[in-house]
Parts: sequence; C-alpha cells; structure tokens
Amino acid sequence: MRREDWNARYAAVENLWAAKPNRFLVAEVEQLPPGRALDLACGEGQNAIWLASLGWSVHGVDYSDVAIEKARGRAQRDGVAVEFTCADLVTYEPAPRHFDLVIVLYLHIPSRERRGVLANAAAAVAPGGTFLLLGHDRSNLTDGVGGPQDPDILSTPEEIASELPGLEIEKATTFLRDVRGEERDAIDNLVRARRPAPQ
Ligand SMILES: C[S@@+](CC[C@H](N)C(=O)[O-])C[C@H]1O[C@@H](n2cnc3c(N)ncnc32)[C@H](O)[C@@H]1O
Repeated sequence: MRREDWNARYAAVENLWAAKPNRFLVAEVEQLPPGRALDLACGEGQNAIWLASLGWSVHGVDYSDVAIEKARGRAQRDGVAVEFTCADLVTYEPAPRHFDLVIVLYLHIPSRERRGVLANAAAAVAPGGTFLLLGHDRSNLTDGVGGPQDPDILSTPEEIASELPGLEIEKATTFLRDVRGEERDAIDNLVRARRPAPQ
C-alpha cells in the first residue's frame, strides 16, 4: 500500500486499530526496565503511548501524516509525552545504538525495502537492548485468515531473523491469533532479539 492509501484508511475512521496496546507486545516487553524506545510504523500510536505510560521515553515514526496527527492527539489526551515523527522508513535512519527497545509491528513492505529498514532498526538497538517484530506470517496465506495477500510483503521468522545484523536472536516463531468471527486463526510471526551488552 502507498502512503496515500494509508492516509485514506486512517482518515476514514476514528480508530483504524484498537486503542489498547498489542497484547503480544505487552507480554514480551512489560517486564523490561523503561529506557529509550523506538516504535517504527507506529500508526495511531497506541503502543508508543502505552510504553510512555510505563515510563519509557518513546519516539514513534510512521509515514502517514494522518496517523501521526491522531497519535499526537491521543498522547495529548492521555497526558503522556511521546515524540512522533512523520517519515518514510525506507530512507529514515534512526540514531545508531541509541534505543533500549526497538519495535516493528505489522509493517508489511516489499522484501527488498524491508531488509534495509530492518538493518537500520537493528543498528538502532543499544548494547543490551531489545528488538521485537510482530507481523503476518507468509503461511497465513494458505493456512490462516485475513491480512495482506501479497507473498512478497509477508515474511517468515527465519527471514526476519536473518535480516538483523549484530543482534542475537532470542525467539523466532510463528503463533496463532484468534480473529473474531472467523473459523480459523490468523498466523503471525514474532522475532525477539538482543544486542549483546559489553562484558
Ligand atoms: C498495519 S499498520 C500497523 C500500525 C501499528 N504498528 C500497529 O500495530 O497498530 C502499518 C503501518 O505501517 C506504516 N507504513 C507502511 N509503510 C511505511 C513506510 N515505508 N514508512 C513508514 N511507515 C510505513 C503505515 O502508515 C501504517 O501505519
């Protein structure tokens, strides 16, 4: 999808995504001590705002200016400070080794672009910091339900794990996500990695 298409989707409804943080993100990161977090493809900001409410200093980035405006409004309403930037991740370069947590949730872009975005995301993880990606798995096309239908913008955990230079993989797995009203579950993937801390 192009930026204009995302803007149209975000403009059409008040909330495109649930206002609550992603439950799989919560399970993975709620035990981490707060530090600096980067949310790439932050959308309407619900995950960035949740992290900020826990004491994280959060920077959210998305190329949809409509989503970013909504995110800023939400953060203001919730009384939390989050820095939101409107930028295309294909060219955006976050500060290297700066963030204790980098998250990328449901960003589906062509694989040749994804590799560069993930290399920059991995580079942004500080020593001892954590990287977390959630996305629709490619097997969802045949064995799951919903989600994007172009195989090139989907991934497997193995592909994601191989696109994170300098990070140690802690988890690279698929999981089932129940979808209301559907007989089958969706199949998502999760990759969690860490930059080794200096000895
Ligand atoms: C499925 S939404 C996920 C949003 C959010 N991470 C969440 O989980 O609610 C995908 C997001 O990726 C953003 N996006 C897609 N391609 C992008 C790019 N090249 N640069 C920045 N953002 C992009 C879209 O604007 C959209 O907000």
